[in-house]
Amino acid sequence: RVVAVIMVGGPTKGTRFRPLSLNVPKPLFPLAGQPMVHHPISACSRIPNLAQIYLIGFYEEREFALYVSAISNELKVPVRYLREDRPHGSAGGLYTFRDYILEENPSHIFLLNCDVCCSFPLSQMLDAHKNYGGMGTILVIKVSAESANQFGELVADPVTNELLHYTEKPETFVSDLINCGVYIFTPDIFKAIQDSFTQRKDRDYLRLDQDILSPLAGKKELYTYETRDFWEQIKTPGMSLKCSGLYLAQFRRTSPILLAGSKGSRSAAIIDDVYIHPSAKVHPSAKIGPNVSISANARIGAGARLISCIILDDVEIKGEGDYNAKLGITILGESVAVEDEVVVINSIVLPNKTLNVSVQEEIIL
Ligand code: GDD
Repeated sequence: RVVAVIMVGGPTKGTRFRPLSLNVPKPLFPLAGQPMVHHPISACSRIPNLAQIYLIGFYEEREFALYVSAISNELKVPVRYLREDRPHGSAGGLYTFRDYILEENPSHIFLLNCDVCCSFPLSQMLDAHKNYGGMGTILVIKVSAESANQFGELVADPVTNELLHYTEKPETFVSDLINCGVYIFTPDIFKAIQDSFTQRKDRDYLRLDQDILSPLAGKKELYTYETRDFWEQIKTPGMSLKCSGLYLAQFRRTSPILLAGSKGSRSAAIIDDVYIHPSAKVHPSAKIGPNVSISANARIGAGARLISCIILDDVEIKGEGDYNAKLGITILGESVAVEDEVVVINSIVLPNKTLNVSVQEEIIL
């Protein structure tokens, strides 16, 4: 049996993302019309013999209550939110709930960061992991040498794929191969975390990367599985728009039924990959796409032109007669209203604002 754990962090962590997560915790911010955490959950639900998915974080329980019960019903996999009283670090958080995780007597434990966007090739990782025979396998990817220092940089044996060296966000370049934040472990990981706790005076906080992976490199315990598919980290509002587009493109390949298509002359013109929630109302003369995601109860008026946008719940974009509202590369928060004839480009608008003048390259707080 297999258990999956998704680390969702908590309110003090996602500060770079804050303008967007005012009304909703970052893991529930919609990408391609689905909460961010839905994408890893949905990948986990396809693992054979999956017993349980745990979300571990230090957000209030009530913030996740509705979502976990809805998604458990929808996917027919039990999903449960476990709340830490305070942050214990990525390894410490996992260890806090070891009794829950081991209750299922799992042979393998998947561990996923919530704030990464990728195709989550979990079954392939599991196969590779079984072949390697170590304690853990890390999903890795090659990135540009300039961007590598934002991540865990690592060196792997080109033949055996063993992790030989690991440095978290190093100041001087080590390698363009980086840690994707997606792992598979045997239950021995808890022994490794326990040993590390015992060696430290600060017994409260332990990070998976620096404190566990780094010291285990080169000991035939950890291996790597390289993805050649898409992968991005979602730390900033701008990245959420890019990742929304990546997931829309993935839907085009895996579940095109989720995407909007022009259905005859009475529906809006749709360009490339677009998601429209069934409860949203879009005027037939509007032109939407590419890379647009429209959430529940949004109303898009006549002649509106939307390109590269995330439109959150209850947003209203007016457009009447010959005058059009236009949006490009923009994220509109909940219940924002955009008046007729207003043009919004490269902007992020916080919840509950009304825009009656055009804006470009702005964050409307
Ligand atoms: N529950 C809980 N408790 N979750 C936590 C805690 C904690 O105390 N601290 C971090 N997390 C969650 C975050 O929400 C995120 O999903 C994941 O654990 C890793 O967060 P960080 O430890 O802050 O690391 P990072 O995101 O800067 O970098 C990690 O991920 C990169 C890939 O996105 C590292 O593992 C890098 O090496 C890696 O490249």
